[in-house]
Amino acid sequence: MRGKHEGATCHGVSFGPFVTTQQPMSSPSSANQTQVVNNASQDELDRRAGLLQAFRTNPVPNAEVLANLGLFLNRQALSRLLFMHDLYRLALPVHGVVMEFGTRWGQNVVTFTNLRGIYEPYNYTRKIVAFDTFEGFPTVDPKDGGDAVIRTGAYAVTQGYDGFLGGLMRYHESESPLAHINKHELVKGDVCETLPKYLEQHPETIVALAYFDLDLYEPTKKCLDALAPYLTKGSVLGFDELNFPAFPGETVAVRETLGLDRHAIRRSTLSPTASYLVVD
Ligand SMILES: C[S@@+](CC[C@H](N)C(=O)[O-])C[C@H]1O[C@@H](n2cnc3c(N)ncnc32)[C@H](O)[C@@H]1O
Repeated sequence: MRGKHEGATCHGVSFGPFVTTQQPMSSPSSANQTQVVNNASQDELDRRAGLLQAFRTNPVPNAEVLANLGLFLNRQALSRLLFMHDLYRLALPVHGVVMEFGTRWGQNVVTFTNLRGIYEPYNYTRKIVAFDTFEGFPTVDPKDGGDAVIRTGAYAVTQGYDGFLGGLMRYHESESPLAHINKHELVKGDVCETLPKYLEQHPETIVALAYFDLDLYEPTKKCLDALAPYLTKGSVLGFDELNFPAFPGETVAVRETLGLDRHAIRRSTLSPTASYLVVD
C-alpha cells in the first residue's frame, strides 16, 4: 500500500510532498519492492518482521516514542551507527566538509548532522553534502559483475523522497546551535555529472570525510578521481563494499585510482563489510 502525502509543515520545517512505502502489517517482510542485497536468512527476516510489527504497534506514548527509538535498534543497526560515529571522530580534527556518495534514505547524513551538533556545534563550515540520484542506479558497468542487484533502478527510493529528507535534515539542524545557517546540501542526479559541477561551484571545498556507498565501478572511480585535489592529509575515505562479492566494481575502482597497496585499508570490528583509509 503506497500513500501519497501532500507534504506537512511543522513549526517551519516542511516534509514532502512524498510517497510512502508503508505496507499492511500482514506482509511486513515485503515492505520494500526495490531490488537490494539482503543476506539475511528466512528465520532472521521473520524475527525482524516481528520487531517491525512491535515498532508499528508499540504502546509507548507518542510524547516518548522518539526518545526511546533504541528499543527497536537491533545489533546490526546499532553497529552501523557506531561505525559512522567512529569515522566522524577520526575526521574531527580535519578541516573540511563531509560528503556521502550514495545516500538513499539518508540515515548516514542525518547521523553526521547530529554528530556535528554533538562534537562541534559551532563549526558551521562542516557542511554535509549528500549525493544520490534518489532514483537508484542510473547505469551499471560490466565491471560490476553479475549479481541480481546489479541493474538500473536498484536501490530506488520513493517519489519525492529527497524533499522529505531535506525536511529531516533541516529539523535535525534546528536542534543544534547556529540553526539559522544552512549546513547541508542534497545533490540530486548522476554523481558523475553532479560532483564535478558541485566542485566547480564550490572551489573553497576541502573534504575531511567522504563515505562511498555507490556500490558501482564507474561513479566510484569518477568520484575518487574528482575528489583527489580536494583531499588533505588526514582526510578519511570510508567504503561500504570493498572486498564484497556482490559489488566488485567498488573495489576495482579503488584499485585503479588509489591503488590497494598505497594506503592501509582498515576495518572495524563494528562491520564485516565497511572499511576506511586515512590519506597520508
Ligand atoms: C546502497 S545505496 C546507499 C545506501 C545508504 N548509504 C545507506 O547507508 O543506507 C546505493 C545508492 O547509490 C546511488 N547511486 C549509485 N550510482 C549513482 C550515481 N551514478 N549517481 C548518484 N547516485 C548513485 C543509488 O541511487 C543508491 O541510493
